[in-house]
Amino acid sequence: MKKVDVLLGLQWGDEGKGKIVDVLTPNYDVISRFQGGPNAGHTLEFNGRKHILRSIPSGIFQGGKVNVIGNGVVLDPLLFKQEAESLEAGGHNGLKKQLYISKKAHLILPTHRLLDTAYEAAKGAGKIGTTGKGIGPAYTDKVSRNGVRVGDLLHNFSEVYAKAKARHELILKSMNCEYDIRELEEQWFEGIEYLKEFNLIDSEHVINKYLGEDKTVLAEGAQGTMLDIDFGSYPFVTSSNTVCAGCCTGLGVSPRSIGEVYGIFKAYCTRVGSGPFPTELLDETGDKLCEIGHEFGSVTGRRRRCGWIDLVALKYAIMINGVTRLIMMKSDVLDTFETIKACIAYVIDGKEVVEFPYSISDDVEPVYVELPGWQTDMTTMTSEDEFPEEFNNYLSFLEEELGIPVKIVSVGPDREQTIIRYEEQ
Ligand code: GDP
Ligand code: IMO
Ligand code: MG
Repeated sequence: MKKVDVLLGLQWGDEGKGKIVDVLTPNYDVISRFQGGPNAGHTLEFNGRKHILRSIPSGIFQGGKVNVIGNGVVLDPLLFKQEAESLEAGGHNGLKKQLYISKKAHLILPTHRLLDTAYEAAKGAGKIGTTGKGIGPAYTDKVSRNGVRVGDLLHNFSEVYAKAKARHELILKSMNCEYDIRELEEQWFEGIEYLKEFNLIDSEHVINKYLGEDKTVLAEGAQGTMLDIDFGSYPFVTSSNTVCAGCCTGLGVSPRSIGEVYGIFKAYCTRVGSGPFPTELLDETGDKLCEIGHEFGSVTGRRRRCGWIDLVALKYAIMINGVTRLIMMKSDVLDTFETIKACIAYVIDGKEVVEFPYSISDDVEPVYVELPGWQTDMTTMTSEDEFPEEFNNYLSFLEEELGIPVKIVSVGPDREQTIIRYEEQ
């Protein structure tokens, strides 16, 4: 029986998961998303073209692999149709044969989006800064046993839909929301018809059967560990389990069938939306990271907040996920920096803390180690033999601090700008 390898974000999302899933896809038979929804924006670049995926797994471009949208995902039929059609328009053939969707995945309704906006507005200054895609309300309905699932399409769908919509409208009315969703609803129903053309499956059976047939599965996480509903910086989180355990519930695979856990992080740190960010740089260094790293959200276009790498948060993420291999992204963004800082502890109320705390307030003070930058263009490098000494020092420092080897280093957004450090025996 083969195991499921998991690739997930260790920071606040946008670590570069899409790029690396695409790079690793040739090693796998099946690629599957296990949580999140169109709040995700996973960017892939190859052959001079850029693709942004939201709900479709990032294994869709390489060699006709099976791609599965698992039960833990929340799916918006309208956005899914747009995403899939743009792939088809770009010349992607056979999508409907290659992509399977779990019947147990929950649907994001048009009214979920309205509720997302209404709840955010009601929070005022305390707003989460969500992507506005209806993620929170859709997962709320799932947990409160009011959700609408993909499998409902095959049965009494209009009845289930009308019931859910009526519930949402009562809430919207109680919040004095004015809205007109006729156009949105019309497009959404076109999405529903389109969705019916796909293989809607019992994905837990299918994936376990694949494993039994010695097929290899890569599970693709969305968001990042620090946005996890249980372990992230609550309440400034998303509404799903982004951690490794979410792969078991989001695909229906047992904890014993998890193999490698690839933890992916940027050589620095970013965050979109509100919430604590101890190493955030509100100065020109932060601006420089944002500018060189093109740190603008792939879903909402919002400027990402930027800062130095945070090893307190990273160690926490590694612990929660049981990471076995690290992947460092966007190291090229630091190519021109004279010195690079890494946060190894926080000072809270005058005390030094090395364990990620229950909550973080604004007056947390990061304790930094300063390392010399490599000041070398790494974007054309193809082997670790070319790494500058200072870069190797940075890597060794991280590996020692984190206790896990860095298996892959990414030196640019393109598929080719990826350096696998040592081949497995
Ligand atoms: P994801 O959500 O984790 O898949 O990450 P995103 O796609 O939202 O954000 C990562 C961004 O960084 C994308 O624009 C990628 O094209 C880009 N990117 C990925 N790896 C690298 C890298 O090594 N260097 C640079 N400069 N950009 C990268
Ligand atoms: P990928 O998969 C970065 C953030 C939002 C907000 C919070 C809650 O591309 O890494 P939500 O819409 O989920 O209710 O918003 O989570 N967020 C992300 N930030 N990358 C993502 O996905 C994100 N998905 C959600 O900005 O702060
Ligand atoms: Mg993203």
